[in-house]
This record gives sequence, structure tokens and C-alpha cells, in this order.
Amino acid sequence: MQTIPLLQIGLGGVGRELVRQILATEAPLARRYGFRLAHVALADTTGLLSAADGLDRAALEAILVAKEHGQSITTLPGSTTGSSWEAFPLEQRAIFVDVSAAPGHEVPLAARIAAGCRVVLANKRPLSTSMAAFTALTAHGATRYEATVGAGLPVIATLQSLIDSGDTIIRIEAAMSGTLGYLCTELEAGKPLSVALRAAHALGYTEPDPRDDLSGADVARKALILARTSGLNWEPEAVTAEAWFPPELASVHRDEFMARAEELDAPLAARVAEARAAGGALRYVATLTPTGASVALRVVPADHPLATLRGPDNLFSFTSARYAERPLVVRGPGAGQPVTAAGVLADIIATARERW
Ligand SMILES: NC(=O)c1ccc[n+]([C@@H]2O[C@H](COP(=O)([O-])OP(=O)(O)OC[C@H]3O[C@@H](n4cnc5c(N)ncnc54)[C@H](OP(=O)(O)O)[C@@H]3O)[C@@H](O)[C@H]2O)c1
Repeated sequence: MQTIPLLQIGLGGVGRELVRQILATEAPLARRYGFRLAHVALADTTGLLSAADGLDRAALEAILVAKEHGQSITTLPGSTTGSSWEAFPLEQRAIFVDVSAAPGHEVPLAARIAAGCRVVLANKRPLSTSMAAFTALTAHGATRYEATVGAGLPVIATLQSLIDSGDTIIRIEAAMSGTLGYLCTELEAGKPLSVALRAAHALGYTEPDPRDDLSGADVARKALILARTSGLNWEPEAVTAEAWFPPELASVHRDEFMARAEELDAPLAARVAEARAAGGALRYVATLTPTGASVALRVVPADHPLATLRGPDNLFSFTSARYAERPLVVRGPGAGQPVTAAGVLADIIATARERW
């Protein structure tokens, strides 16, 4: 039985679900492929817990319980406080799995790739800084990153197979924020934005500061990853996003922003009315062609697949030389811990199967 060492960065909702799925698939993976995925180290913001031969089931379950209860990994016996995964000594090649949302991982991850390791990402940030950093991570397929766009939906795989087989992308249109999709549906149902936003915030559908969703920056990062995956060597400035709030609300404290959310009601209601008068629907859409990209609130015609989207679902429409008349469409839930973790696990398994 071959052992594939894993070093996992992040034990939030997605990271914990990933550990559970790895434990649940141990026997079938061993049977099917003859390997075992072994966590040699797990990291959160406070430190590391490691074992040279891989943490056993009991240790992993203890980590899950501790993190579920809001404790840090460094409360567990054998952990090392303040120790970073970046300096973790490894004797074998391993798969580094980044399921954090932290910035600044592109350089240390690229260094691990240069040393023969592989990388799997749910974290978009390492792929959305400079083009040089994207290339250092993804050259020769060293990094898999399906879960960075559309969670568990086969978006990156679809795009890569179109490109690899010689197709040319003409246009990509996508609604890829579950939170903003949910808000569009609520606006269409006649709710003021402030009411829908406060409800979404209370349900945990938004980031702690909802401006992280409403700024469009997260969608812009995903659009940049799609552009680069389709072969466009764009720097981050190439993709700009329309924010749902005016510049004067960008720098106020989060509590003040929430208290002033009513200021967004009239402008957004006017946009919905305008869409309705034009016989269409208001959607937050990334539109990408080889000459540029925009991420903005757009009126889409009633017969457009994007108009039929409801709630937090995502939709990706690829128009290419081969799919010129009717686009290739990928649609479904684009967020959620089980589907995101499953996307990450599928990438880990595909990497392990390469026996690189
Ligand atoms: N949730 C979804 O539906 C979804 C869908 C697609 C993609 N994603 C992506 O998946 C990633 C994880 O999402 P999540 O919802 O699990 O996030 P989360 O609940 O905020 O968890 C983030 C985890 O990363 C750890 N972390 C942060 N910075 C770190 C660092 N520098 N070193 C080591 N660990 C660090 C945190 O440690 P502490 O526990 O110490 O705070 C935490 O355990 C994000 O990049 C997100 O954008 C999520």
C-alpha cells in the first residue's frame, strides 16, 4: 500500500469536512487505487500538529472535535505553537492542500512545487496575484484548483479540457457568487436590499463584513482564474468589479455600513425595475472575452439561461469555437462545505493517482 503524504492548511468549515471525507473514503481508495492519504501535518492560524507517518484516525477525530468547539490546534497534545507549515521539514514529496483563505501563500507553495511537491487549492488568493505567481504554481499541472471556482462543480476541468483539446474560448458568462445570486432573487421578489442583506448576514450566507461580497472582489478573483485558465496572461488589474455600494460606504466601520444599508435600497430597486421594464432579469455577471472582462450588475434577457437562475446557484456558460451556436453550460450549487470539500478531495485523488 502506497502512502501519499498530505499537509493541510486550514481547518475551517471546508477543511474539517475534507478531513471527514478523507476518513470516510480510506477503504474504497485503498481498494480501488492501492494508496492511503496520510495527513503528515495540519495547520491553523496558531500552529501545527504533525506526525511523520501520518496522524491516525483518533488524532484526526480529536482535531475535528477541538476545532468544532472553536479551539485552536495548539490546544492538542503534540502540537507546536507558532510553527508554520511554510518551514515544515519534509523527507518525502507531499501534496500541500490549502483550504484557508489566507493571502501570501503563493511563494511558499511555489517553493514546495520546485522541491517536487504538488498543490491542491480551495484558496483563490495564491492564483489571483501576479501572472508570474500563477505560472509558477500551475506550470506542468503541478497545482489543481477546481474548488476555487464554482466549489464542487466541474468548471476548471471543463475549461481545461476545452483548451487542451484545441478549442478556443470566445466568451464566458458566469454568475458565480452564491451570496449575490441569493440577493438578486430576493430583490426580484420585491424585498429591499437592506432587508435581504440583514437576513443573509444573520444566516451566515455573507462574509462577516458583507462588503467583501458586495464589492465583487471575490467574483473578480474567480474571473481572473478563469481567464488565466483559458490561456490569457492577465494581471489582476485586467478584471474590475462593480460594487453594490457607493465609494463613501467603502471605508466606514462594518456596523455603520450595516446601519446605513437602507441607502442601497432605492438604487438597487431602480435597477430591478429597469430590468423588469426591459423584459429581463438583474444578475451579477462576469463576462469574459479574449479582449477583456467585466464583473457587473447586468440586465439579462428573459430567455437567457442566467435569467432562470434562482437563489445561490452558479451558472457558467462557455461559448467556444466548437460550442459556437449553443454554449456549453455548467450549473448547480456553487458553494457549501460538502461539495467544496469533495471538489478538493477529487483533486487530491487525481494528483495521487498520477504517482508523480
Ligand atoms: N465555504 C464554501 O462554500 C467555499 C466554496 C468554495 C471555496 N471556498 C474556499 O475555501 C477556503 C476555506 O473556506 P472556509 O469556509 O473553510 O473558511 P474558514 O471557515 O474561514 O476557515 C479558514 C481556515 O483557514 C485557517 N487559516 C487562515 N489563515 C491561515 C494561515 N495563514 N495558516 C494556516 N491556517 C490558516 C483558519 O485557521 P483558524 O481556525 O485558526 O482561524 C481556518 O481554520 C476559502 O479560501 C474559501 O474561499 C469555500
